[in-house]
Amino acid sequence: QSPGLKTYYQDYFPIGVAVSPRALHSDEAKLIRQQFNSLTAENAMKMGPLHPSEDTYYWKDADSIVAFALRNGMRIRGHNLCWHNQAPRWFFTNSAGDTVSKAVLLQRLKAHITAVVSRYKGKIYAWDVVNEVISDKPEEFYRNSEFYRICGEEYIAKAFQYAHEADPDALLFYNDYNEIDPVKREKIYRLVKNLQAAGVPVHGLGLQAHWAINEPSESQLDSTLQRFSELGVQLQITELDISVYPKEHSARKARPADTATTLTREKEDRQAAVYRMCFALFRKYRDVITGVTFWNVSDRHSWLDNFPVRGRKDYPLLFDKNLLPKKAFREVVEF
Ligand code: XIL
Repeated sequence: QSPGLKTYYQDYFPIGVAVSPRALHSDEAKLIRQQFNSLTAENAMKMGPLHPSEDTYYWKDADSIVAFALRNGMRIRGHNLCWHNQAPRWFFTNSAGDTVSKAVLLQRLKAHITAVVSRYKGKIYAWDVVNEVISDKPEEFYRNSEFYRICGEEYIAKAFQYAHEADPDALLFYNDYNEIDPVKREKIYRLVKNLQAAGVPVHGLGLQAHWAINEPSESQLDSTLQRFSELGVQLQITELDISVYPKEHSARKARPADTATTLTREKEDRQAAVYRMCFALFRKYRDVITGVTFWNVSDRHSWLDNFPVRGRKDYPLLFDKNLLPKKAFREVVEF
């Protein structure tokens, strides 16, 4: 029985994992306790699951994840308060089915954020307040989401303010993906800068880190971490996984050969090398990186199974289907 990830990294940063309530009642629970000292709800704290209708909150799953973390001395990252995905239909419409006004949307956003942050005040130390509002299209700054169409950019700053009012001690993060893309990276940088300049309480930047065996390169990741560290806020790696399929930046382009359902030796070796490179850089930026969270526990189940390619199984984590450490695990802990 080797020490857990959290022990290897105790002088660096907490090591977290995103879970479903079900994982906490399976044999994965033991592995979670051994390896990790931070917990995130994979879905249970998102707006749709948590707030299915205006007058209903469904707390059971979120509460059970919080209780597990507290019982086991783990810290908790909240994910997330405002996102265009997994947002319930009712949030944007009135009883007649028409799109609501900006005033109504902001009032609903405030009610939602206040209720959720207050419930876990003092228990959740950091929140992903706003998730994925930057566009992937080079020519577009903000994603054209329903929030954006109704409110313009104003809801972004407001979301941080509402969260700060509900728990002034919580660390508030902006969180996004494709953060290593040079164009998107600068937009993310600009967004955080603008929020800071406007006096908005933003304390951290979350890098989702949904990466793959072909990217990022070492220099790309190094320059990304360097650039973001110039913001003067803490950085957290919030949703780390390394897909064993090369990233194609378009689901349609994924080649049929990539639907093979086994983890080949070659893939596992390449993945291990990427993990090794990433953690070496995370350690290099230890002064600014204050947490690294994996998105799921083991290759038994990952959100990348069937995504972005239907019917394709992925193996993006440090533990295999039998919950045993993979080659990538050794590469991460031997330093
Ligand atoms: C994913 C979950 O893992 C899935 O179970 C769910 O079906 C969709 O959302 N970026 C995020 C996360 O910020 O919330 C997403 O989680 C993965 C991408």
